[in-house]
Amino acid sequence: MEKSVKLDLIAAADRNMGIGQKNMLPWKLTSEFKYFLKITKPPQGQRNVIIVGHRTWETMGEVATRPFPGAMNIVISRSMTTVPSDISDTVVCSSLDNAINFIKNLQPQPYRVWVLGGAQIYKLCLLSPYFHRLYLTRINRVHHCDAFFPEEFKVEEYVRVQDPDVPQGMQTDEFDGTQFEIYVYERRIQEHLAKKKL
Ligand SMILES: NC(=O)c1ccc[n+]([C@@H]2O[C@H](COP(=O)([O-])OP(=O)(O)OC[C@H]3O[C@@H](n4cnc5c(N)ncnc54)[C@H](OP(=O)(O)O)[C@@H]3O)[C@@H](O)[C@H]2O)c1
Repeated sequence: MEKSVKLDLIAAADRNMGIGQKNMLPWKLTSEFKYFLKITKPPQGQRNVIIVGHRTWETMGEVATRPFPGAMNIVISRSMTTVPSDISDTVVCSSLDNAINFIKNLQPQPYRVWVLGGAQIYKLCLLSPYFHRLYLTRINRVHHCDAFFPEEFKVEEYVRVQDPDVPQGMQTDEFDGTQFEIYVYERRIQEHLAKKKL
């Protein structure tokens, strides 16, 4: 059955799958950030949903604007119930299930649903039946990190797919020359189902 909500995860990780340090991105990659803003931007007249965890939301304003532009923002948190009233287009959901129900009831339906992290929320969404794709930027460097992409992501269980909106091949960042490559993954459905039957 076709799922009505499709979660597209977008993340950048270093060679050790590190994604964060002290609740911030450990790097400044101008070209990668431009790609991130471009791909998460809906077409004219459409709106996306973005989903973030409470910890990522706390520091999101230092990386991008809050609310994230062009999107209905959903913050996942058990401890927070609302966001300050001066932050528009943002709701708090106490679970991913509540977030999915909220999205299903949106009128009009969003163009895409992007999951912006962090580690705990990536894990919830990777394991969710609503998982669709992972857009993973692999940064060809090692950074000091205290947050890592969830180890539940086993690359052999996924297949790399093409997306014409994603730059192909190794990219070189215009800021400091760091190399990175963007991989788009979907789950190998048949193999996953076969394994479950064993
Ligand atoms: N490189 C990248 O692409 C990227 C992208 C985004 C973030 N990051 C980094 O990732 C790090 C943050 O990740 P994180 O794992 O520490 O935090 P997070 O996933 O952003 O947020 C964790 C919070 O989400 C809420 N939460 C988690 N599971 C939940 C559940 N099942 N139900 C309800 N609420 C739930 C909890 O909030 P409450 O405590 O309020 O209940 C929890 O403290 C930072 O270093 C950030 O810079 C990196």
